[in-house]
Amino acid sequence: MSAIFVDASADFLLPPLSFRAMRDDDIAAVAFIERDVYVFPWSAGNFRDSLLSGYQCWGCWADDELIGYAIILVSLDEAHLLNFAVSCGCQNQGVGARFLTFVINEARRMCCEMLYLEVRPSNIIGRRLYARFGFHQLGLRRNYYPATTGREDALFLGLNISPQKL
Ligand SMILES: CC(C)(COP(=O)(O)OP(=O)(O)OC[C@H]1O[C@@H](n2cnc3c(N)ncnc32)[C@H](O)[C@@H]1OP(=O)(O)O)[C@@H](O)C(=O)NCCC(=O)NCCS
Repeated sequence: MSAIFVDASADFLLPPLSFRAMRDDDIAAVAFIERDVYVFPWSAGNFRDSLLSGYQCWGCWADDELIGYAIILVSLDEAHLLNFAVSCGCQNQGVGARFLTFVINEARRMCCEMLYLEVRPSNIIGRRLYARFGFHQLGLRRNYYPATTGREDALFLGLNISPQKL
């Protein structure tokens, strides 16, 4: 039985959130959200591979409904957020911010000192969320993402999450 972490913050339109490790039988629901939120989604196989590879794969639930997920590659003292999404119907209600707080705390618990991620320059909402958490741009990955016309660069962001920064 995997641990379940509950975020019962009161200033919240949705029921309390709970976070637990993703399982194989969550993948269909995860892939459903993924297809809804991204023009170029990961396949169900990408999520399955992430589980098999031992990546940190977290789901976020409101009541019994999966409403978000985060895939994190941890290597030594670095964590890389490879995928992070909230279902369309639950966006803009603070879920992303609460889930990202959980992800940061989880990465700290695993003794990570840096959290990295890539984001599209065109992803204004994602960039705003990450800026609010203090992520800084560390680089630019040219032609990183597929796009409707050609390719799109990625902003490479990082956040120092070492205990001294608390
Ligand atoms: C990015 C994402 C995870 C944010 O999740 P969320 O639950 O909407 O985030 P929050 O409700 O906590 O809001 C975060 C910020 O975005 C703003 N925001 C969220 N949705 C918005 C919308 N539709 N219009 C305008 N602003 C919006 C919020 O106001 C908030 O801004 P603030 O920090 O200045 O107050 C979510 O939009 C998503 O899943 N997008 C598709 C997948 C994606 O882009 N993932 C990130 C890849 S790097």
